[in-house]
Amino acid sequence: MANAKRRNVSEVEQIVGRYGGERSSLIPILQDLQESFGYLSEDAVDDLARRIGVSPNEIFGVATFYAQFRFRPPGEHTVRVCLGTACHVRGGHQILEEVERRLDTKAGGTSADRKFDLERVACVGCCALAPVVVVDGKVHAGMTPRKVSPLLSRYGKREESKDA
Ligand code: FES
Repeated sequence: MANAKRRNVSEVEQIVGRYGGERSSLIPILQDLQESFGYLSEDAVDDLARRIGVSPNEIFGVATFYAQFRFRPPGEHTVRVCLGTACHVRGGHQILEEVERRLDTKAGGTSADRKFDLERVACVGCCALAPVVVVDGKVHAGMTPRKVSPLLSRYGKREESKDA
């Protein structure tokens, strides 16, 4: 654990160094931190705050303004349900509801076992295949609510009492 913290700290140092420790570069620094760690941890933000001379609260205050930043570790897989026009008219909302039910989380959330992040997106550029669900970047075409459970099982979702 201490090693992980030390590693994180040295990565923070490197990232801050790229921007010359300038607090005016806060957003790109936060983007690089998230790219590196997958999210903005408290440790990383504390360390960053010390290095650029602002309070952690100030940094969190700025970061929470932007939807791109996350403050918890990402799930193992990312499920994106498309609700663009083509997918919407072919039942995208019913698919999203089924995914939410199966994962027991809403769009924007992470399943309790931290295996799946769930997002809704507005067109992923393959409308001819609508409705689509994208898992870890792979497009699954012609989705229906009934196809949701087998799809999630392929990514390690265990069936529980949700069928009841
Ligand atoms: S609307 Fe879903 S891929 Fe375009």
